[in-house]
Amino acid sequence: MTFENAAEAAEYIGQKTSLRPRVAIVLGSGLGAFADELDEAVAIPYEEIPHFVRSTVEGHAGRLVIGKCGDVPLVVQQGRFHFYEGYSMEQVMFPARVFGRMRIGTVILTNAAGSLKAGMRPGDLMLIADHINMMGVNPLRGPNDERFGPRFPDMTQVYDRELQRAIDEEAHNIARERLETGKEKALTDFLHRGTYCALSGPTYETPAEIRLFRALGADAVGMSTVPEAIAAHHQGLRVAGISCITNFAAGMTDDVIHHGEVMEVGARVSEVFKELLRRVVKRI
Ligand code: HPA
Repeated sequence: MTFENAAEAAEYIGQKTSLRPRVAIVLGSGLGAFADELDEAVAIPYEEIPHFVRSTVEGHAGRLVIGKCGDVPLVVQQGRFHFYEGYSMEQVMFPARVFGRMRIGTVILTNAAGSLKAGMRPGDLMLIADHINMMGVNPLRGPNDERFGPRFPDMTQVYDRELQRAIDEEAHNIARERLETGKEKALTDFLHRGTYCALSGPTYETPAEIRLFRALGADAVGMSTVPEAIAAHHQGLRVAGISCITNFAAGMTDDVIHHGEVMEVGARVSEVFKELLRRVVKRI
């Protein structure tokens, strides 16, 4: 996957719409509904886009939607590519590289994740402040094309502080308003902040692995996001990450973990999640 491949895909997408988005959002498992709400939307199935692969997981639609959220034009990735599907890291991070060629300035990455903290419960959200890459490979391994970014990218601040502040403020505004209108019980702690640990999957973790990751400083675990975050940061894009907590990680309860539950909780938080994205997008 070369720089020219990414440029070709970006050009193809640009021909499909007159909108020129500067913000991209990647929707994780069970969170795809946000894309259905865009105005003036144009949806492009992945198989039509040069060099894209298709997504094979239930809960991931497999299309790029370009449209407007309020006044803000957006490109939304409804369904992502995962390393566990057998794709190479180049394929997994390709859309993020295409965003760079589309002159996108900001990428918001979302995912479903398991919680390693007793106080962070299914249905809560976690703002990703930092990550641990436990996928067993660095996505930038291999020859480096300087047009994407430097050979040895700094990783001190992958997740943009200003975006984190905006997300935090909007989440608290939503929580306060919901409390005032009596719509919901207190949501004071529904937005957490923590370190996301990415594993290759496709198995969920063992309880012993979860104890290990907790000792290493992880707050949530999942099977995505880090490749795209690295690719976007490499290109100098501003990155934000939000995890939708869908379950307690293995061994924290007696329950087993299954994809159906992950999807179900995603759908349950989808209203609040969409509202948060709408508000954050306005501030970019
Ligand atoms: N582990 C890994 N990935 C996940 C989990 C989990 O517990 N929940 C949702 N995605």
